[in-house]
Amino acid sequence: MDAISVIRTKRDRGELSDEQIDWVIDAYTRGEVADEQMSALAMAILLNGMNRREIARWTAAMIASGERMDFSSLSRPTADKHSTGGVGDKITLPLAPLVAACGAAVPQLSGRGLGHTGGTLDKLESIPGWRALLSNEEMLHVLDTTGAVICAAGDGLAPADKKLYALRDVTGTVEAIPLIASSIMSKKIAEGTGSLVLDVKVGSGAFMKTIEDARELASTMVGLGTDHGVKTVALLTDMSTPLGLTAGNALEVRESVEVLAGGGPADVVELTIALAREMLDAAGVKDADPAKALADGSAMDVWRRMIAAQGGDPDATLPTSKEQHVVKAPSSGVLTRLDAYGIGVAAWRLGAGRARKEDPVQAAAGIEMHAKPGDTVTAGQPLLTLHTDTPERFEYALQSLEGAYDVATPDTPFTASPVVLERIA
Ligand code: URA
Repeated sequence: MDAISVIRTKRDRGELSDEQIDWVIDAYTRGEVADEQMSALAMAILLNGMNRREIARWTAAMIASGERMDFSSLSRPTADKHSTGGVGDKITLPLAPLVAACGAAVPQLSGRGLGHTGGTLDKLESIPGWRALLSNEEMLHVLDTTGAVICAAGDGLAPADKKLYALRDVTGTVEAIPLIASSIMSKKIAEGTGSLVLDVKVGSGAFMKTIEDARELASTMVGLGTDHGVKTVALLTDMSTPLGLTAGNALEVRESVEVLAGGGPADVVELTIALAREMLDAAGVKDADPAKALADGSAMDVWRRMIAAQGGDPDATLPTSKEQHVVKAPSSGVLTRLDAYGIGVAAWRLGAGRARKEDPVQAAAGIEMHAKPGDTVTAGQPLLTLHTDTPERFEYALQSLEGAYDVATPDTPFTASPVVLERIA
């Protein structure tokens, strides 16, 4: 077998055989297939697609490139959630302890932000002392003793995907549905969760801009999970506007703690509860009431134990930004649009995200929103507060907010998009 014949097959719109797929993933992981060859193959896949059999085999080969975790020693069923990434998407933070408080174990392997979407690990690292890197034994211990763990995936899990994802990121080949589906599902299946709920985001702030693409991605991933014995369900959810009223690391932790304290923005609470119900149902936990577990403080108790078990101080003061800039409403009326992509890019430029994998992030940088689409605003009232430690970033961030919001006359009819758009099982 050689890389050139595999590339030619896909370049010429052929089907890759099982043997070709197994060989190319294994040889690439071992360094025998060069980055330039794999990037040519990834581009051919992006342009010409893969059928269900090819995607299933590609995913299995990526799982086989590394270790598989095993949670069978736990006394509770496991449930995990994966979001395809959005702006202000802090849902994992309240969700993991909430589902644990309701009786399932939540092994949540999470990532860092790249580009305009935030990363769960960057958010949690704004809590003084909190550690994302745990050994497999530590992870199992936190999970067993608190019911939930949120941490980075170890190097041994789907190493083929780690290499390939970094390559796709710099070769314009991220946006291929077969490659996204196999990348996400190889890690989740190797992680060993019994059930999985996918939050597939749709809209300007998401990878998938249209409902049709989101449906295709969701049904491909549900099929892969089901074929590997993982009970998998997907919700398609709105990402045309940011979730909640904050985008940025410490700002989002603060909002998540509000949700765990029984408050917080309505859309964040609604999505957290909707995903919790799906996770508990998929894990076979009956008669649990996530809304009650938020109201009675039991989810907050798990959060505090989980943060402390990973070295964090749940009572610590979170970092605040050195500089702020207020964007005011240009006129009085109804805020009819607050664009997720514009807000995400502005938060990123303020220092909440990174341009390259090795860049540091600012814990306190980001954006507070003082109104959501549908709210009435008065000319001159604060619409957004921009936070950063490096004020020279304001100008660059403000450029990405041009055209990112609309205020219409007070009588303009406005219909909010539902938070959950569709369910695919
Ligand atoms: N997240 C992943 O883990 N992989 C992708 O390909 C895209 C998003």
